[in-house]
Amino acid sequence: MPKPSGSELMERIVSLAKRRGFIYPASEIYGGLNGFWDYGPLGSQLKNNLRDVWWHDMVECPPLGPDGHPLSVVGLDSAIIQNPRTWEASGHVAGFSDPMVDCRETKNRFRADHLYVLCPSDHPNGPFFAFMEGEPEVALKKARKALHIDDPSLFETVPLGELSEDQLAKTFAPGAKKIGTLTEPRDFNLMFRTFVGAASGDDNLAYLRPETAQGIFLNYKNVVATTRVHIPFGIAQIGKAFRNEVTPRNYIFRSREFEQMEMEWFCAPNEASKWFEFWTQTRLDWWKSVGISADNLTLRKHDPRELAHYAKTGEGTFDIDYRYPFTDPEFGELEGVAHRSDFDLTQHQSHSRTKLEYFDSESRERYMPHVIEPAAGLSRGVLTLLCEAYDVDENRPSPEIMRFPARLAPVKAGIFPLVAKEGMPEVAEKLYLEVRQNYVAQFDAKQSIGKRYARMDEAGCPYCFTIDGETVDGESANHNTVTVRDRDTGNQERISLDQVPTFLADKLGV
Ligand code: GAP
Repeated sequence: MPKPSGSELMERIVSLAKRRGFIYPASEIYGGLNGFWDYGPLGSQLKNNLRDVWWHDMVECPPLGPDGHPLSVVGLDSAIIQNPRTWEASGHVAGFSDPMVDCRETKNRFRADHLYVLCPSDHPNGPFFAFMEGEPEVALKKARKALHIDDPSLFETVPLGELSEDQLAKTFAPGAKKIGTLTEPRDFNLMFRTFVGAASGDDNLAYLRPETAQGIFLNYKNVVATTRVHIPFGIAQIGKAFRNEVTPRNYIFRSREFEQMEMEWFCAPNEASKWFEFWTQTRLDWWKSVGISADNLTLRKHDPRELAHYAKTGEGTFDIDYRYPFTDPEFGELEGVAHRSDFDLTQHQSHSRTKLEYFDSESRERYMPHVIEPAAGLSRGVLTLLCEAYDVDENRPSPEIMRFPARLAPVKAGIFPLVAKEGMPEVAEKLYLEVRQNYVAQFDAKQSIGKRYARMDEAGCPYCFTIDGETVDGESANHNTVTVRDRDTGNQERISLDQVPTFLADKLGV
């Protein structure tokens, strides 16, 4: 079984993730709910590990700044539901929307900016055939059959938004049998609405946060007043965000409930460009430091047309993009680093009538801080780890391996008695009880040793320790030693039983 690519690779990852308890469709026994996912035992541990490394590297031990001085970043955990005026001030009520089109025949809903149309170059009056970005196959087949065109290069691909009203009326929607069933694009606000308290009128309307960032802006004044931070400094938060995405797709890449890891870096306006550059590079390097290969990462500056409303007054946004199997050979967003200027604080100052300017005791100046925001997706980070880790080794009886970096692996150690006799289970259990005090470990005595290794390979466990006949044989030169199997090479070495904790500490760095 060679390692596949593209959609087949994605199918394999999704299947392994389900089978091994990384990720399940949410409410599966009721048929699921589009855009929602649950993290199983291995998935929640993997997600927590990535979250903890981010928190450690951004809050507990932030990097040194461009001049070599340690930076100051503090943590926050704000409410998911805030006063709804927050979202008026932030611009989300008016501007956080995607253009949407409906198909009157199939009742499917699409993001207009994700639809493309095949236009036959020698049939200017159509018919035209729409398809979802990256999925032209079905439309192409249908178009070639309908127009008897053999050569696919005789079709031009045009974004749906560029069609005239007349052309839209001559377009087949994806999956539709009739022509002209797509509606005109209209804006669809992505915020989930809810009601606070017993009544459900407009007065009680509230929103689930679509980004964790606003909770930080709302608490900026509290943090300045109650801690000893001075500009420049950051406030970081990790938590759930909710977006009623028009077309959730590509597994957990675009879901309706997901987690973000965001930091707002407050700085003097004349230093914002320096910090924008610094955080863009630092964040790119961080993804490499957690094991994502440089070849699969790239920086992309946003086109002015795709900038979010808050980034328009700043210098823009850099995306840190990853080459996902479903974007390959292209890249898709993993994290955005935005120059939000003083947009949010100015908006909140005017909407709340609360002074949010900062008095700089060094320069004796009062100013509205500018903000640089590295905003990473924790859920997308997990997807990236899964894609990066999945590998196939055809020489193993069970060839699928998750090559997670050891410090992120959900299970750090597998501990096995080779057979369930001659005192091996007792020694293995004693070792297990010791190791599990510091590391996530699994004791496994069921089935052949090969099957147990294969189970650990799929879970991405970096080290397996096996207690065998020599371990328990008082006459053997290898008495009181165990074999350690390395997941990545499959190689085994013997170490002394009492060295296992030090071995793990050395390898895992903790
Ligand atoms: N506060 C800025 C902000 O929210 P964003 O680019 O909209 O910026 C930041 O989101 C990150 O959150 C993205 O880079 C992505 O990793 C993640 N993200 C956004 N929408 C998502 C979705 N629907 N599903 C999963 N992750 C998402």
